[in-house]
Amino acid sequence: MKLWGGRFEKDTDSLVEDFHSSISFDRRLYKFDIMGSIAHAGMLGRIGILSAEETEKIIGGLECILADIQAGRVEFEVGAEDIHMNVEKLLTERIGDAGKKLHTGRSRNDQVALDFRLFLREEIDNTKDLLTALLETLLDLSSEHLKTWMPGYTHLQKAQPITLSHHLMAYVQMFLRDLGRLGDTRKRLNLSPLGSGALAGTTFALRREEVAAELNFDGVTLNSLDGVSDRDFALEFLAAASIMMMHLSRLCEELIIWSSGEFSFVSIDDAYATGSSIMPQKKNPDVAELVRGKTGRVYGDLITLLTVMKGLPLAYNKDMQEDKECVFDAVDTIQKSLLVIRPMLATMKVNADIMAREAKKGFTNATDLADYLAKKNVPFREAHAIVGRLVLECSRRGCSLEDLTLEELKTVSEFFEEDLYEAISLQTCVQKRSVTGGPAPETVQTAIQFSKETLDQL
Ligand code: ARG
Repeated sequence: MKLWGGRFEKDTDSLVEDFHSSISFDRRLYKFDIMGSIAHAGMLGRIGILSAEETEKIIGGLECILADIQAGRVEFEVGAEDIHMNVEKLLTERIGDAGKKLHTGRSRNDQVALDFRLFLREEIDNTKDLLTALLETLLDLSSEHLKTWMPGYTHLQKAQPITLSHHLMAYVQMFLRDLGRLGDTRKRLNLSPLGSGALAGTTFALRREEVAAELNFDGVTLNSLDGVSDRDFALEFLAAASIMMMHLSRLCEELIIWSSGEFSFVSIDDAYATGSSIMPQKKNPDVAELVRGKTGRVYGDLITLLTVMKGLPLAYNKDMQEDKECVFDAVDTIQKSLLVIRPMLATMKVNADIMAREAKKGFTNATDLADYLAKKNVPFREAHAIVGRLVLECSRRGCSLEDLTLEELKTVSEFFEEDLYEAISLQTCVQKRSVTGGPAPETVQTAIQFSKETLDQL
């Protein structure tokens, strides 16, 4: 007989049994379900709904069930529908009638909302740890490569010279924001919905705040309908996860480009690359490609839940059981991605001489030559045109701006002097860009320091 079977005259059709059961995936919540039940039972004991003996039996029974599940000694039943009823059924089988009192003043609707928040809170913390480790690796690499010159790009065309440090520090800013978003999500998530009941609270004088404090929540939800039907916390997590995957994907895309033969800026360590079943020479950046690919999956998880929630009337609807698999999938995907990217970055070889060589090509100092004239009071627009003509001439000759002689340069502008060569050297182009947020090594060093302090506070 079902735990809710009283008003039914027929058994559930076996197709329905299988269709609506969620134990195959929500078993993952067992630890949180039991934690929540222990806190609920303790409170029921304190307000006199359970006797001391019943409370002890229930809590002891739940602790044994937890240990047995962890040891793989429990077989869940599809017929018992979900993790909540599986645990309750096991409890009653083991301790007898006292088990039947556990659900007093509670509904599976507030129970599942509680379990899901507890689960996600822990996984947000785990994700934050992994993201922090990645940030630390990026900060270490940035400190190492303050003077590793490289071309900066716009439109994937060489634009202006920067350093690898500066480039990586761009990702540090993105990931710091991601870490902040996860922290914000956690703050809003951290209220206990228990006591919302099925939808309209309860007539029992539950001490919601006490249970919340015991479960390390910052407080309780303020509306019982919202308490059972809000999944914003999961959506916020999925949105933060999607944005973070987008950042990881962009980083991976760059590693894929940089490790191509055409670029050869970096070589990915053999441990993080794979070969081809037919082409013996191949070494492919599969890990980076997979992270890029899995980004689509996490976006899908976000869209899944947004779509499930759209148009649901208050309060709980069974549709909401579909909230779990997408969140589990996103948690697993982002954590595995974070885990593998960190050592891949830490072990990749940076080909600094190739990067520096490429940084000089493609007239990356053209802006600096125009700036040189502008500093001598030539209107910037005119300076731009003058240098544009010089670039055209150099492209015809197949040389660089610094290869032009002073006499040649003087024919287009009398303001050119010997010091222009120094002004457009690769080192100067980077080192003089010391405006806050710029690529000059000391400026980036300051940014690294500042970012480390930000990281410590997140
Ligand atoms: N397995 C359900 C879920 O995940 C638990 C809540 C069920 N509530 C109900 N009224 N059927 O959403």
